[in-house]
Amino acid sequence: MSTNIIEARDICVTFGTGSHKVEAVKNVSLTLAAGEPLGIVGESGSGKSTLARVLAGLQTPTSGQVYFNGEPLYKGHRSYTGEARRQVQMVFQDPYASLNPQLTALSAVSEAVRIHNKCSKSEADVKALELLRQMGIAQLDAVKKPRQLSGGQRQRVSVARALSANPSILLADEPTSAIDQSAQAQLLNLFRGLLHQGLAIVLVSHDLGVIRYLTKRVYVMKDGVFVESGDTEEIFNHPQQAYTQELLASIPGALGAAVRNQKHAS
Ligand SMILES: Nc1ncnc2c1ncn2[C@@H]1O[C@H](COP(=O)(O)OP(=O)(O)OP(=O)(O)O)[C@@H](O)[C@H]1O
Ligand SMILES: [Mg+2]
Repeated sequence: MSTNIIEARDICVTFGTGSHKVEAVKNVSLTLAAGEPLGIVGESGSGKSTLARVLAGLQTPTSGQVYFNGEPLYKGHRSYTGEARRQVQMVFQDPYASLNPQLTALSAVSEAVRIHNKCSKSEADVKALELLRQMGIAQLDAVKKPRQLSGGQRQRVSVARALSANPSILLADEPTSAIDQSAQAQLLNLFRGLLHQGLAIVLVSHDLGVIRYLTKRVYVMKDGVFVESGDTEEIFNHPQQAYTQELLASIPGALGAAVRNQKHAS
């Protein structure tokens, strides 16, 4: 029997008040097992990033609770503390905003290595360069600052920073949105390798193709609620909700055509 490392129960997140009130997440419950590749998919504005931030301990829900290894996460103003803080890492949707513009990619990752591991600066640099290399960032680019990097490179630097903590859960919010297909395949394959090593990954994406490639179970989100959830292949082959069918129909390229043809044939 698998154990849930994260269990979110009846999560609601409301922003603003009165006529400015936005119910970004409405009564959502979710589980994540150790080592599980889980997907959250939905159109823009459906509440995916808000929910991911709640799971990451960065957004206190208006109501509901997240349990991490059975313990309530939101107690007063604190969320993940100590060891749990290292174990849960998030890659943000906008890597530009999450990277310090003054730090080179190497310094940013090396700094994160030193936050999570007791080691000298030179040891941290070696580890950081290795992490960046695994992300396909060569030494030449490692000494560049965020504004000198491409969107995809910035995204991969953010992933390297998150992995420097050696987490047990990685929350990745649209990690492939700014990268071309070959870089995307490289990153997804790296994620697959990490899954084999026992990392749980929550992949947030509007792209069902990416979700299908990596995840085993998926939650489909619309207007702050889950409209459908279950086995990824099952949902891909037999979507029950019109909304999921529309998302499938919007998958670009060859994968989308293959999925649509399969649907038409059946
Ligand atoms: N800090 C905030 N203040 C007010 N409204 C917010 C805030 N953050 C998100 N929202 C609103 O909550 C809703 C959900 O936003 P969220 O970023 O979670 O969606 P998303 O599914 O991640 O979208 P995308 O695919 O475009 O990234 C949107 O209507 C958004 O405008
Ligand atoms: Mg988002």
